[in-house]
Amino acid sequence: MIPIKRLGILTGGGDAPGLNAVIRAVVKSATNAGIECVGLEDSFDGLLDPSRSRVLTPRDVTGILRLGGTILGTRNTGNPLDGIVSTSDGPRVYSDRVVETFHAMGLGALVVIGGDGTLTIAHRFSSRGIPIVGVPKTIDNDIVGTTDCFGFESAVAFATDAIDRLHTTAEAHKRILVVEVMGRYAGWIALHSGVAGGADAILIPEIPFDLSRVADRLLERDRWGARFSITVVAEGAFPTGGKVALLEEAHGGHVERLGGIGARVCEELARLTGKETRSVVLGHLQRGGSPTSIDRVLATRFGCKAVELVRVGQFGMMVAFAPPDIVARPLADVVGRTKTVPMDSDLLLAAKALGITFGE
Ligand code: F6P
Repeated sequence: MIPIKRLGILTGGGDAPGLNAVIRAVVKSATNAGIECVGLEDSFDGLLDPSRSRVLTPRDVTGILRLGGTILGTRNTGNPLDGIVSTSDGPRVYSDRVVETFHAMGLGALVVIGGDGTLTIAHRFSSRGIPIVGVPKTIDNDIVGTTDCFGFESAVAFATDAIDRLHTTAEAHKRILVVEVMGRYAGWIALHSGVAGGADAILIPEIPFDLSRVADRLLERDRWGARFSITVVAEGAFPTGGKVALLEEAHGGHVERLGGIGARVCEELARLTGKETRSVVLGHLQRGGSPTSIDRVLATRFGCKAVELVRVGQFGMMVAFAPPDIVARPLADVVGRTKTVPMDSDLLLAAKALGITFGE
């Protein structure tokens, strides 16, 4: 095995708190092991031209552990692999150019930090011979093969704090407050923040809902004197027989943008209960700001494990959390799938045992 002397690192897809913590861990642990790190800007675009990259030293990553966002920039525009791009050497097929620049820059490995979309692209480059280690990232926690992704806990902590704040105003005005959270086609953020925030109803994509069931439950609370309530709705939740709410259809390499279900649920619950209702969309606030301590630790462990895999030449793998260990899983086994909330999830059953309705 030829020891790797230089690795590239990039961040792709939507940002998540903890990306900088991974970058820091990779740069520090790689440098300490005698491997030079090159930061690639704006996901795989950083490999379209060497001018879109820079060497990262421990000095460059000092102080970024607690910062949200990513110092490398990111890109969330679907799969660009087959498109033609203009480069300093003329027009090129995107994926060919990435492979060409990777070799021209003398890189021996690539650490790709991203969600399912980015890891799927990474897997394709892996089959074209680029030695890749993936690091799973998403606030949605929907990546198969890892119990947790960094960013998820930070998003849940933010949403829980928001629900706490909404509780006091809901109670003061005896209103129904509907909170729309992110998560794409998985209900993890809604389930965790709903339980942590003491919600009365939680609507998730895994369980199509019937709002008359939700209204019955909220009116029952009124009868026992709790004349306010909180309903948490995942952006991908939808009514039985209905469809997800979209802000934008998929187009030209962009995936569809979910959103708007909170307002619909709010309007319908007002009609069904006769109560005053209000809705709030937490949106990108869930992705911004500092990672929690748990996410900083997970991101740091992921970054160090990724460098360990580079050092031992274990490529085509994704680092993953299998408590209490950080392990390696083949990218081929995890990409292109979505980890949704199983119906026998302990937390789901606990929520039901508490009397939280899922609109079933
Ligand atoms: O995957 C993370 C996520 O924040 C989803 O929860 C959300 O649906 C999507 O990204 C939003 O993407 P964008 O930043 O492109 O609006």
